[in-house]
Amino acid sequence: MCGIVAYIGPKAAYPILINGLRRLEYRGYDSAGVAIIQDHNIVLYKRRGKVSDLEDYCMDKDMAACAGIAHTRWATHGEPNDENAHPHLSEDGKLALIHNGIVENYLVLKQELMRRGYTFRSNTDTEVLVHLIEDIYKNEQVDLAEAVRLALSGVVGTYALAILSAENPGQLIVAKRGSPLLIGVGDNEYFIGSDGAPIVEYTKQVIYLKDGEVAVVSPHREIVIKNSENETKRPYLEKLEISLEQLEKGNFDHYMLKEIFEQPNAIKDSMRGRINTQKNVVSLGGIIEYEEKMLNAHRFIIAACGTSWHAGLIGEYLFESLVRMPVEVEYASEFRYRNPVINEDDVLIVISQSGETADTLAALELAKSRGATTIGICNVVGSTLARNTHAGSYTHAGHETGVASTKAFTAQVTVLTLMALGLARKKGKIALSQYYQLINDLESIPGKIEKILTQNDYIKEIAQFVAQTKNAIYLGRGVNFPVALEGALKLKEISYIHAEGYPAAEMKHGPIALIDEAMPVIVLATEQETYEKVVSNIQEVKARKGKIISIVSQGDKLVKEMSDYAIEIPRTEELLTPLASCIPLQLLAYHVALLRGCDVDKPRNLAKSVSVE
Ligand code: AGP
Repeated sequence: MCGIVAYIGPKAAYPILINGLRRLEYRGYDSAGVAIIQDHNIVLYKRRGKVSDLEDYCMDKDMAACAGIAHTRWATHGEPNDENAHPHLSEDGKLALIHNGIVENYLVLKQELMRRGYTFRSNTDTEVLVHLIEDIYKNEQVDLAEAVRLALSGVVGTYALAILSAENPGQLIVAKRGSPLLIGVGDNEYFIGSDGAPIVEYTKQVIYLKDGEVAVVSPHREIVIKNSENETKRPYLEKLEISLEQLEKGNFDHYMLKEIFEQPNAIKDSMRGRINTQKNVVSLGGIIEYEEKMLNAHRFIIAACGTSWHAGLIGEYLFESLVRMPVEVEYASEFRYRNPVINEDDVLIVISQSGETADTLAALELAKSRGATTIGICNVVGSTLARNTHAGSYTHAGHETGVASTKAFTAQVTVLTLMALGLARKKGKIALSQYYQLINDLESIPGKIEKILTQNDYIKEIAQFVAQTKNAIYLGRGVNFPVALEGALKLKEISYIHAEGYPAAEMKHGPIALIDEAMPVIVLATEQETYEKVVSNIQEVKARKGKIISIVSQGDKLVKEMSDYAIEIPRTEELLTPLASCIPLQLLAYHVALLRGCDVDKPRNLAKSVSVE
C-alpha cells in the first residue's frame, strides 16, 4: 500500500526521493508526489499514475533541495487523482505532510477544521492531519514536534507520517502508530522509509520507530524521539536485514519470475541452521522458550490472509497429521470481528509475509488480550508482527517484491513443516523412521523444485491455452486442496481471469455446472491417498468436455493419458507435495498474465502489504 520516503542531509534530495519512490512501487499505488524545500518555501508536485509520470512532470523543474518528502498513494478515501495524491499542504502552505494509514475520525475533525476556516483541497482523510497540526502549532505556542504530538493524540486510526516545514527547513518530523516507519541513519543525514527498500542503498543503520513516537531528525544533531506521554526515548539502532541485490530484478524480466526461481534457495535459507544434519533433529531457535506452551496447548489457531492463509491451511494438515493436535485456520479479517472463543491455553500462529497486514495484526492483538500465546511466522525482519508476537520464526525467504507471493509462500510452508516435525517428535507422536524420512524428503525439496523449473518452456505452452479463457477451475484434495486455492489466487490476481479453487470432490456439489469445452480444469493429481478419487473427478470433468491440465507424480501414466496437458513433478512424501505442486501453478499464472499483457509485478488494484483493513 502507500509508501513513504524522505531525506534530509547534505546531498541532493530529489534523486534520492524519486529513486526511493521507484523502490516503493512494488507495494502497489495509483499516484505519487514529492515536496521539497527551496528558499524557505515548499515546492510540491503530484501526479496520478506511475512514478515515471511524476518524474516526467518534474523533468524541466528546478528540483534542487537538501530536504524533501515523497509518497506513493494507494487510494482509500477519495479517488486516485492529482489532488488526492500526497503530500498535502497546510492552509498557509508552510507544512507538507505524507501519510500511510487511515484516520478513522477524519470526518469529525474535518468538520471542526472547516468551521475554523480551513479549506480542503482533497477528499482524503490525510488532509485533516496537516490542518490539525497547523491549527495547534499556530494557537498553542508550542514547537512543531509538540504540535504534531498533540494533534496525533486526538487522532483515531493508524499512521506513519513525515512532515516538511518551510519555517523549520533543517528538520523533518516523523511519527508512527500502527503503520511501520524506519529512520535510516547516515553521515549527518537521515533517510525515512515505510520499509527498508528506499533506504538500503544508502545505509543499513536504522531505527524502527515505535507506536506513539514522534521523532525530529536534523543533520548534525542527535535524533529526538518522544513517546505519546511526551517522555524522551533513546533511539535504538538496528541493522537493516535486506540487501540491494534482493531489490533488483537481475537477469529476470519480472520480480515474480525471479522470485519463483529463487525458491530452491529460499527454502534452503528457511531450513538453514534448523535441521541438525548430524543428529537429524529439527529445532526452531525463535520458539524454543515457548515450546512447552505449544506442546501443552489446548489447540492451535492459525490466522492469516490471502496466500499466507493458504499456507496456514497446509499447516493444519501438517499439525494434525504429525503433532496430532487440533488446529483451526481462520481468515484474520473474520476472526477479529467474531468474538471468538480464545483461552489462555490456546496458541495462535499468525502467518504473514510482510508482518504488516492490518487484519492479521488485529487478530494477534485480540488473541493476546485474551491471554493466548502468540507465535509469528513472518518474512520481514523487524516488522510489527515480528515485534508483537511472544515468539516466532522468520521465513528467511529474502525480500519479496512481486505482489503475487511465491517464495514467501513456500518458505512459510517450510517453516510450518519444521515446526510440526519438531513438536511431533517432542510429543512422541511420530515414529523415528517417519521423522527421519520427512526430514530427508524436506531437504531434497530444493533439488526437486530445480527440476520442476526446467519445465518452464512447456508450462509457457500450456499458458497459451489458458490465456484465452475467461474462467478456470483448480481442483485438489487433502494437503493439495490449499494448493488449488493458491493456484487459483495466483491466476486471478495477475491475469484477471476468474479462477476458483475447490476440493476435487466438492465439484459435484455445484461447480460442475460450469464445465464445458472451454473450461480449463487444473487438477492436482499427484500420487496420494486420494489418487483414485481424483481420477474419478477427472473422468467427471472429461465427460463434460472440460480440458484437463494435471500436475502428476513423475512416471504417472493413468492421469497423464486422461489429460490435455500434464506436468510431472518429482515424487515426494505426500505431506510435502505442496512445496513442489505449487511451482507449476505459479509459472502458469505468470505466463498467462504475460500473454494477456498484464503488469505481472504490479497487478491492478492490489497492494503488496495490506496495511489497512
Ligand atoms: C498473495 O499473492 C497476495 N498478494 C495476498 O493474498 C497476500 O498473501 C495477503 O495480502 C497477505 O499478506 P501478508 O502475507 O503480507 O500478510
